[in-house]
Amino acid sequence: MSDDSRPSRTAAVIPAAGRGVRLGPGAPKALRALNGTPMLIHAVRALAASRAVSLVVVVAPPDGAAEVKSLLDAYALPERTDFLVVPGGQSRQESVKLGLDALPPGYDIVLVHDAARPLVPVDTVDAVIEAVRAGAPAVVPALPLADTVKEVEPAETPGAPEPVVATPARARLRAVQTPQGFDREILLRAHETVTDNVTDDASMVEQLGEQVVVVPGHEEAFKVTRPLDLVLAEAVLARRRLTDGF
Ligand code: CTP
Ligand code: MG
Repeated sequence: MSDDSRPSRTAAVIPAAGRGVRLGPGAPKALRALNGTPMLIHAVRALAASRAVSLVVVVAPPDGAAEVKSLLDAYALPERTDFLVVPGGQSRQESVKLGLDALPPGYDIVLVHDAARPLVPVDTVDAVIEAVRAGAPAVVPALPLADTVKEVEPAETPGAPEPVVATPARARLRAVQTPQGFDREILLRAHETVTDNVTDDASMVEQLGEQVVVVPGHEEAFKVTRPLDLVLAEAVLARRRLTDGF
């Protein structure tokens, strides 16, 4: 049987091992509640909502794997999806690598999705998978920017005036989100080859010289980073409850 005759199988890796320093003191960010349900559970449901995703690997806080396993048992999740939990590492990159190491064979498309983006709509997830299935080695959902961006010479002292170096044309810039989708072999190669510290997986694939493409992201796929983002996330959930009766 040739490779082309096999249906593609998709797994999602959800890095959830961060502390959430910018959110302030408290439980690890992914375990904080949004309208009573842990952020991680929202994120897992968002990915498992895609019929194409048959396995979700959650990368838990290093000492929190048992707690995350019992959370996954306690909340209703789709029966057709398999779940695995592995402990994470010191950086996001390390956590993603630990998740990839736990992937069983047989999955040829891998999504990497931040637990900190709990409200990504399933249509965005499906659009990313569709673009990988159509042949792109790496796919990133992204949005145009609202703010103009300046490149500066960062000041040594926080708060000191910083000289502007350049103003990139805003129309050419995109703010990238997750899930990012990959041909599994290429993502594994990227994580084995690239050692620089990066903040997204697609940039590692770029460093290999492979083409990365952007598809439309969604405003509800924003990352919960600072306290105000919790307010926004709960407002989105309240709006959904009104419009979906859910
Ligand atoms: N992440 C991870 N392992 C780490 C650091 C981050 O799995 N060592 C995950 C986070 O749990 C999050 C995603 O990577 O789902 C995006 O990271 P970010 O939003 O920066 O989360 P934190 O690192 O937790 O937040 P902060 O940087 O404010 O501490
Ligand atoms: Mg971080």
